[in-house]
Amino acid sequence: MNHFISPQDVPDLNQLITGGIVAKRNPFADKQLGENKTIGLLFFNSSLRTRLSTQKAAQNLGMNVIVLNVSQDSWGLEMEEGVVMNGANAEHVKEAAAVIGQYCDIIGVRSFAKLQDRDADYSELVFQQFRKYAGVPIVNLESATRHPLQSLADCITIEEFKVKARPKVVLTWLPHFKALPQAVANSFCEWMNGMDVELVVTHPEGYDLAPEFLGKAEVLHDQNKALEGADFVYGKNWSSYTSYGQVLVNDPAWMMTEEKMARTDNGKFMHCLPVRRNVKVTDAVLDSPRALVIEQAANREWAAQAVLKEILLGMQ
Ligand code: CP
Repeated sequence: MNHFISPQDVPDLNQLITGGIVAKRNPFADKQLGENKTIGLLFFNSSLRTRLSTQKAAQNLGMNVIVLNVSQDSWGLEMEEGVVMNGANAEHVKEAAAVIGQYCDIIGVRSFAKLQDRDADYSELVFQQFRKYAGVPIVNLESATRHPLQSLADCITIEEFKVKARPKVVLTWLPHFKALPQAVANSFCEWMNGMDVELVVTHPEGYDLAPEFLGKAEVLHDQNKALEGADFVYGKNWSSYTSYGQVLVNDPAWMMTEEKMARTDNGKFMHCLPVRRNVKVTDAVLDSPRALVIEQAANREWAAQAVLKEILLGMQ
């Protein structure tokens, strides 16, 4: 594997899931693999889990780690080609990516959707440009449309906790007052489409995800019906894709509660975190044995380690 930007970069999804489980059992087995190699983690947006888990995974593989908060600590980067740079951005990605590629063997990038212009966000210009100009493998730490390290950790978590060969997995929209990107929901659907699960997506009218991410999922606007018999309930808010970036609904009736979880088949609750308690999901659900949110976050380390190991093996 070279880049890890989307599932199209992954030759074998199941091998990567197994790789995460193997790394979890024996974290330091490949300590020599990353010796004298450096990963640079570039954050255009805030992070807790992605930052710490990817740093830890790289260290488990013997790598050196550099972390840069691009928006705060560095020059503003211009992404567009051929512009007159007389605005706020002092450096072009052509130079910046190429320079960082001189210092780092792998570069991780986090750059969220701006939710102003759908075509601009869905073109993934930041990742296109880093891929083009860095000269080293690029790892997606969450882009405008995808969060594949989170999705891989979610796949690992479902593999660990499933009690049926083909579990029912329900992605449910949850209420939120702010406009949030579709990246986690898109990515979750995309990766679930590669797994042997019954995938149901439930959301209010106007919150359809892009068809290329939705894939084979069944879509229901009746949350209670969707939850019937679920083995896993994955909660997430996202803003509208069709009325791009807008908050069309903020109805607390969509919040996840114990009463709703009782409709499932002893289902587990998942969320990528961070989560606003009693806005999206009640304390009672999050504090119950049904909640897998900490297990998911723990698996971020093993997902990142599986990905970095495959990239390092590809460099040999
Ligand atoms: N789930 C996730 O990506 O968490 P952070 O935004 O804290 O990295």
